[in-house]
Amino acid sequence: MEKTLSIIKPDAVKKGVIGKIIDRFESNGLRIAAMKKIKLDEKTAGEFYEVHKERPFFGELVEFMTSGPVVVMALEGEGAVLKNRELMGATDPKEAEKGTIRADFAESIDANAVHGSDSLENADREIKFFFSKEEIL
Ligand code: CMP
Repeated sequence: MEKTLSIIKPDAVKKGVIGKIIDRFESNGLRIAAMKKIKLDEKTAGEFYEVHKERPFFGELVEFMTSGPVVVMALEGEGAVLKNRELMGATDPKEAEKGTIRADFAESIDANAVHGSDSLENADREIKFFFSKEEIL
């Protein structure tokens, strides 16, 4: 069964909508295979978002992702990568479709409530980045 990585970002954790976001996943056939609440440090956030290192928003992205606790999850289900992306909506909440997580809970392209893996290959890397084999159940 396919797996993908989801992160509930500091803005959504601060707002107290962890449960509401998790409900979107569980109500749409995505099972939580692993989950933890952590606070990222600069080094870890920078390594996780290494692909964006050269982008102009990299500094702000790392600053934002280390600004408060996040909830990291491995989600499992049929077509999990695509399903999660559909549930999240567009990266910029202004462009996100009505009823998506970002349309409902996000403020801006930086504070956009959730991260989700963009491919099966990245999902595998991102899940391994945060979870050991024993933590995925
Ligand atoms: P995320 O899915 O976590 O992946 C990288 C993040 O960079 C993205 O969500 C956005 O929150 C943030 N970001 C900021 N500016 C941009 C941009 N112009 N294009 C893409 N992502 C951006």
